[in-house]
Amino acid sequence: MLVPKSFIDDLRSRLRLSDIIAPRVKLTRAGREFKACCPFHNEKSASFYVNDEKGFFHCFGCGAHGDQIGFLMRHQNLGFMDAVEILAGQAGMPVPKPSVQDVERSRTRDRLITLMDTATKWYAQQLFLTANKEILSYLTGRGLTVETIEAFRLGYAPPDSAQLANAMKQAGYTVPELIEAGLFKQSTRDGGSPFAFFRDRVMFPVTDRRGQTIAFGARVLPEHIRPLKAGDQKPPKYINSGETPLFQKGQILYNESHARTAAAKGQPVIVCEGYADVIALWQAGFTGAVAPLGTALTEAQITSLWSMIPEADDTGVREPVLCFDGDAAGQRAATRAMDRILPQLQAGRSARVAFLPDGMDPDDLIRAKGREAFEAVIATAIPMVDMIWRTLTDGRNFDTPEGKAGLQKSIKDTCAKIADLAVQKAYMAALRDKVFKAQSSNFAGKQKARGAASVVRLPDPKSNGRNTRARVALAAILCFPEIFHEAEDILGRLTIDDPRLDTMRQTILAALSEEPETDHEALMNIMNQKGFSEDLQDIMAAARLHGTSEKSGGNAQNALAGLREAVGAA
Ligand code: UTP
Ligand code: MN
Repeated sequence: MLVPKSFIDDLRSRLRLSDIIAPRVKLTRAGREFKACCPFHNEKSASFYVNDEKGFFHCFGCGAHGDQIGFLMRHQNLGFMDAVEILAGQAGMPVPKPSVQDVERSRTRDRLITLMDTATKWYAQQLFLTANKEILSYLTGRGLTVETIEAFRLGYAPPDSAQLANAMKQAGYTVPELIEAGLFKQSTRDGGSPFAFFRDRVMFPVTDRRGQTIAFGARVLPEHIRPLKAGDQKPPKYINSGETPLFQKGQILYNESHARTAAAKGQPVIVCEGYADVIALWQAGFTGAVAPLGTALTEAQITSLWSMIPEADDTGVREPVLCFDGDAAGQRAATRAMDRILPQLQAGRSARVAFLPDGMDPDDLIRAKGREAFEAVIATAIPMVDMIWRTLTDGRNFDTPEGKAGLQKSIKDTCAKIADLAVQKAYMAALRDKVFKAQSSNFAGKQKARGAASVVRLPDPKSNGRNTRARVALAAILCFPEIFHEAEDILGRLTIDDPRLDTMRQTILAALSEEPETDHEALMNIMNQKGFSEDLQDIMAAARLHGTSEKSGGNAQNALAGLREAVGAA
């Protein structure tokens, strides 16, 4: 497309959507919107809505959705440029003519796109050659099916540079073109000949939003296939294409094209760290998974995440789920991501944060414990405001006036990063409220009891899933005894095969049956007195991990939901 995006944006803001639609479809006012019988499917009652403020139409019957341009394209069966021409005429805005450079650039782009597609096909072919069956079994051995490998167009780059050069030459591409596409590098040695950048690696094509390859990530082979030779330096696990005319790495997310479609169908958008995670998630049915390309999330990527998610009907909030490792490094990464997101928060645009068991990435977790285990991680993702609270309060003491003033100040400083003033105010209010609540319920005592979780080790990822579920369930009731009425039945039915955890369950249920008003502190005291203090630390670690404890941002309702989730009674 050769029309600048700024022109399209101008066009949209100059033309009211309902003015474009009204001559073609009979609209009736409905509050701040208009409604009509959908022109795109057959219906008797109106489920087609037009929202001028947001600048889009949406049909709840058939899912048709779009802006001024999208409406015209669909209604008049026009191409994008034709629709733009008509609208530009209506707005009295001449469509800017592309410059000679623009045309040139677009030609180069097209050529590089077909080059990259040819290379993608060739790498994929190499992967399926009998000579390379070891490489393919490495991937299938990691649990990937051939269908998945094909869907992501995974490939293999052989060690010999000449092979790629020859294949590409036959397809009509020159070495300078291969260099421009980032597939070849000019040797820095004098007289050295150009060499293939990716050699003896598994290839992960990175695509643009339309699914066309624009770059590659490439993984080294594992040491059982390619043992390190004595004296050799360990190569980087992944290398990625450098910047090319097609690829600016901060602008795109891995798997964005698949994930966009998935999100439009209601799949959650899940942000994880790596290529392997995205693919494992996709195969497990989490088709809305994406990853940045070896760097922290950029502003552009965050904007993309929100743009992928259709306007939610119920809550109206777009919330990608950001996954981090449960260890200290994961916590730091989460804090970094939070800092990037805060300035961009708006009404209806937020994020949730989920922590994985220590030392595991989504790929590991799904392979070890199945998709349910990951489902549970997503279900306990904490909202942004709770993530802030957790970051600001973790490991700090607000017992003293100085401590409290310090917290107030960090709340103010953090909220100041939110550019949208209404959202900033709402966060200030929510966080101040949390300070107030924390204090009025004897914050200091609670910090001691529940804070233990921040120093103890997290549950062993290798412990079986059921025990983890039992721990999370017990943590929920320990942190929020007020859910006892609703939770009693679920807890009673939970299968617990660890005798120690089972005894704890009996003790908790007995204590609460005897005195249903028992609060968190009192319950913890009872359990400590009965000799469970070590077990409590273990359990509270599970709580922290799953976002169940209040300190990590849960509330009674979330805890109950988490508990149901944990026992599969949702
Ligand atoms: P990880 O080191 O966590 O690898 O890197 P992984 O995703 O678990 O990969 P497997 O399971 O061992 O195959 C996560 C992401 O960080 C980037 C890549 O994008 C990778 O997917 N990365 C990692 C690099 O760019 N370079 C590296 O050397 C390592
Ligand atoms: Mn991994």
